[in-house]
Amino acid sequence: MGKPDLKVDFAGIQLANPVVLLSGCVGFGEDLARLEGFDFGDVGAICLKGTTLTARQGNPPPRVVETASGMLNAIGLQNPGARHVVDEILPRIGNWPTKLIANIAGSNVEEYGEVARIFDNSPVAGIEINISCPNVKEGGAAFGSDPLVAARVVDAVRKGTSKPIITKLSPNVTDIRTVAKAVIDSGTDGLSAINTLMGMAVDIVSGEAVLGNFQGGLSGAAIKPVALLQVWRVYEVAQPHGIPIMGQGGIETGSDAVEFILAGSSAVGVGTSLFKNPLNGGDVAVGVGEYLAESGHDSVASLVGTLKARSR
Ligand SMILES: Cc1cc2nc3c(=O)[nH]c(=O)nc-3n(C[C@H](O)[C@H](O)[C@H](O)COP(=O)(O)O)c2cc1C
Repeated sequence: MGKPDLKVDFAGIQLANPVVLLSGCVGFGEDLARLEGFDFGDVGAICLKGTTLTARQGNPPPRVVETASGMLNAIGLQNPGARHVVDEILPRIGNWPTKLIANIAGSNVEEYGEVARIFDNSPVAGIEINISCPNVKEGGAAFGSDPLVAARVVDAVRKGTSKPIITKLSPNVTDIRTVAKAVIDSGTDGLSAINTLMGMAVDIVSGEAVLGNFQGGLSGAAIKPVALLQVWRVYEVAQPHGIPIMGQGGIETGSDAVEFILAGSSAVGVGTSLFKNPLNGGDVAVGVGEYLAESGHDSVASLVGTLKARSR
C-alpha cells in the first residue's frame, strides 16, 4: 500500500491534513509566520482568534494560570473587532498555504449574524461559532447552554454567510447531544468539540482568586478524557446527518489525535500544547500519518468513528 492520504474534506473545507491550530492559541498566526521551522503547509487549517463586532480589551489580569496538566484562561475575547480583522489583518495573512477559519462571538444573536456577514466577504474558508460566551441580552447564560438560543445563533450566522459554518460546542452543559442536535437542525455544516471547561484557581497566601475574572476555561491534557467522551457522544447524533466533528481538548501527540479520530472526529484541534511547542501541530499530523500507515488505513476518513467495544 502507498502512503496514506491525510487530506480531509471537513464540511466542504479541503484540508491538507486533519490538524487544525485552535482559536486563541495562535492569535492571527503572525507570530507563527516569524518562527523558524514553522511551515503553514504542515497543518490543515488555523482557527483565528475569537472576533466580535467591535474591539474588546478582554478581562483584567491575571488572565492565565497553569494547573495540573493544563491551564486556565480568562482572556475575555480580547480582539480588534471584525472590520479590522477583515480589512487590516486578513490581507496580510490570506495567502498563507493553509486554510484560515474565522472564530466569531457576540453578545446577542443579531451580533453573531453581523460578524458573519463581515467575514463572508473575506478569504476565510469557513466560520467557527463560539457559543460559549454570555448572552448579554437574555440574562447572561452562555448561548451554548440553551439549545434553542444556540439554534438561533446558527440561524443568524447562516443568513449572514454562504461559507461553511462550524459550531463549537461547550462541555459546560448537562447533555451536549441536545445542543448538537439543535444546531444540526438549524443548519450547521460542522461541529467543534469541545471548548474549555469552566474552572477556578485560589491563592491561599493572599486569600484571593488567582484570575482577575475569578473563573476561567480549563484546557490542555487535563481535559482530554472529558473531551473524548463528549466527542463520542456528539458523533452519535452528528454521524447520521453526515456532520463532521473537529475533536479537541488536550491533544498533544499523534496518538492523542488518533484517539479522537476513533471516537468520531474527522479533524483534530491542537491548542494548549502549542504554548509548550508552537511546532507541535505538524508533529501531530506526522503521527497521524504514521498510525494510518502502520494500521493499514489509506485515509483519515476510513478511521473516523471506528471505536469498538472492549472485547472480553
Ligand atoms: C488562551 C486561550 C484562548 C482561547 N480563546 C478562544 C477563543 O477566542 N475562541 C474559542 O472558540 N476558543 C478559544 N479557546 C479554546 C480553544 O480553542 C480550545 O477549544 C480549547 O482550549 C481546548 O483545546 P486544547 O486543550 O488543545 O487547548 C482558547 C483557549 C486558550 C487556552
